[in-house]
Amino acid sequence: MKIRKAIIPVAGMGTRFLPATKAQPKEMLTVVDKPVIQYIVEEAVASGIEEIIFVTAIGKRAIEDHFDRNFELEYRLEQKKKEKELSEIKRVGKLAKFAFVRQNKPLGDGHAVLCALPFVEKHEPVAILFGDDIIDNKVPALKQLMDVYDKYGDSVIALEEVPKKNVSRYGVIGGKKIDAKTWEINQFKEKPTVAEAPSNLIVIGQYIITPEIMNLLAKTKPGKDGELRLADAFNAYLATGRVLYGCKFEGKHYDCGNKLGFLKAQVELGLKHPEIGKDLKKYLKNLEK
Ligand code: G1P
Repeated sequence: MKIRKAIIPVAGMGTRFLPATKAQPKEMLTVVDKPVIQYIVEEAVASGIEEIIFVTAIGKRAIEDHFDRNFELEYRLEQKKKEKELSEIKRVGKLAKFAFVRQNKPLGDGHAVLCALPFVEKHEPVAILFGDDIIDNKVPALKQLMDVYDKYGDSVIALEEVPKKNVSRYGVIGGKKIDAKTWEINQFKEKPTVAEAPSNLIVIGQYIITPEIMNLLAKTKPGKDGELRLADAFNAYLATGRVLYGCKFEGKHYDCGNKLGFLKAQVELGLKHPEIGKDLKKYLKNLEK
């Protein structure tokens, strides 16, 4: 079944970027000339996604406005004959069909995904994209995950290899490699110690989940901290003897949820930018001296 919808949880408070995120959503922080969330939406659309369900919270209005039309701005740009800017802002509003639903309590990423359920058909697999991860590649990472889904017909998780000492901040998988970039996953450990980690393959915020995982998620009880995590549903699935698939995608991943990752995205995507790339390169070269 073709994956047409993506759920993007964007309810997090962005405390790592305070005070920048005191009065604006962290997803609206700009990388070169676009908010982080627009890169993620464009990647989804380039992969074939037609509908995007944002799971928002208080203080996230700017995301809704960004993907809506702004008639007043369009009118003014038209009057001033700013054709390029006009077509760009119109294009953003037409990237996909957008829906917004609120998560009114911070009860975990699994709970956020369940908030989007009214927009998802019972038998429909969906993509889940976290609002922090930009992946730069000609073939979008999500498209690569979709290809794995098409081949094996089960849930797929985006994987990245990191030095073993860094695994404890992430979900870490264990399993066997079945082709150059695909893993059959039979273990999923959320934020393990280095010693407990089954591998150095970490989970990043892109998934394709089947209705079976969604149903398990809906039945899963929140953990001791009151949060319901996607990781718990993955583990419940593995406990039934089934497997998940992992896709070690091709592409450069920028974790824009932390300051260094965000700055790396600025520099590297800036260097590729047709308007400023060359000048930025010159500037950086002079800095080195
Ligand atoms: C979540 C997931 C974790 C994953 C990470 C990627 O953790 O639970 O498995 O590795 O995102 O960013 P969080 O960063 O929300 O604590």
